[in-house]
Amino acid sequence: MTKPTPNQIPSDRAFPAYIPMDDYIETDVLESLHSHVVEGINRVKSTNESGRFRNVLRMRQSEPLFPGSRTIHLTAKPGPQDYVSVLTDVDDYKLTKHARTFDRLTDFIYSLPFEAIGRAFIIWDDAGVGTPAHLDHTRAEWMPEFIWFRTSKDRRLYMCLDEDDKLFVESSAVWFDTSNQFHGVEGVEGLTFSVRVDGRFDPLLRRAIAADFPYMHDRFADDGGRPTIPGPRGT
Ligand SMILES: [Fe+2]
Repeated sequence: MTKPTPNQIPSDRAFPAYIPMDDYIETDVLESLHSHVVEGINRVKSTNESGRFRNVLRMRQSEPLFPGSRTIHLTAKPGPQDYVSVLTDVDDYKLTKHARTFDRLTDFIYSLPFEAIGRAFIIWDDAGVGTPAHLDHTRAEWMPEFIWFRTSKDRRLYMCLDEDDKLFVESSAVWFDTSNQFHGVEGVEGLTFSVRVDGRFDPLLRRAIAADFPYMHDRFADDGGRPTIPGPRGT
């Protein structure tokens, strides 16, 4: 595969495009979950049941396709597993057996401002590699509704301003544009993890985001559903 390039950025957009979400969630509850999630990861790790994160649309092809990050899915759905279906078949998801291991985290996820929860998974890393800069997909106009969050700032998410200039996100929870800007997680010593929850935002949240971040007004003004124009490729 040739090196992916971000789509042409329309001039009316502000980049880096990300939205701190701490004001929309209970950050004290989130922080209290840290050791609960660490214990759960260690339990799943011992059974070797984690998936492997595939870094398909990476900025530098010299980086590995499998950087070492592992995944634990708390929800899963039957049927098509292509990227668009995985993010938009929100109503088809059911809890996996891992949701019981992470019961407090799962309760927290279901308290988030979503109308419906779809894919929810933990991505963890103890290999120190992190997730090298990449795009999630290449559909420029499609803005999936999700919240990325962490219980510890040791998990260092960044947006790429250009190839060697990283902007580290400061908030505990964030939404960001995953198709028009490269982003990644810095590799650090020891176990780190983050959680990504996809779904349909609560209409009130969608309106709050549109009011606070005019850039997103046209993106989150409707139901945030399936993209109408398929992109050239995606993961
Ligand atoms: Fe990503």
